[in-house]
Amino acid sequence: MNFFTETDRFILRKIEKTDVDGLFKMESTPEVHHFLGKMPLQKKEQAAKVIENIRNQYQVNGIGRWAVIDKKTGDFVGWSGLKYEQEVRKDRPYYDLGYRFRKEYWGQGIATETAIASLKYGFEVLKLEKICAGAHINNIASNRVLQKVGMKFIETFDAYGDPHHWYELDSGF
Ligand SMILES: CC(C)(COP(=O)(O)OP(=O)(O)OC[C@H]1O[C@@H](n2cnc3c(N)ncnc32)[C@H](O)[C@@H]1OP(=O)(O)O)[C@@H](O)C(=O)NCCC(=O)NCCS
Repeated sequence: MNFFTETDRFILRKIEKTDVDGLFKMESTPEVHHFLGKMPLQKKEQAAKVIENIRNQYQVNGIGRWAVIDKKTGDFVGWSGLKYEQEVRKDRPYYDLGYRFRKEYWGQGIATETAIASLKYGFEVLKLEKICAGAHINNIASNRVLQKVGMKFIETFDAYGDPHHWYELDSGF
């Protein structure tokens, strides 16, 4: 199935090889990587590799980030959704809620709208018991989104040498 779900404004579908130009636009923008290690992509081949990795996660984990497509224009806006995360907290793998968009789409409620759809899919379709998320403590927009969609702040933890806020939400919230 290529199509996971939709919101009022967006289709959330499997990421495809043909998303490479949109993904590269996003991942090569320094501001997008400001709280993500400050290593924007340099080459389109790297974006193709990202797509391959995400598609591999669909196979291995049954879930991975979704492409967010503007219903009106068909434009690749970015990615959003769930990932089975095994690197960030090595002691406890978890289902991570995340999102990343091309800069020209920021500030339009897209993270909030797609995060709500992701939580619904995680709890209702995948029957997950818990969904978690981490955000750099200074990433105000991301922390705000996680709070707006009802994630509960649990603690501050270290991820890749930087302090991050950790959030959780249990099914039946
Ligand atoms: C983080 C990100 C996904 C947010 O996406 P978005 O679609 O712009 O988010 P939304 O519009 O749904 O919500 C953002 C909220 O943060 C608020 N916000 C953003 N910047 C802010 C700031 N500097 N100060 C106060 N509030 C701020 C917005 O006002 C909004 O809250 P509101 O609806 O209560 O007004 C987007 O900025 C992005 O792609 N960043 C780069 C990648 C990234 O950091 N991903 C998250 C990693 S944890």
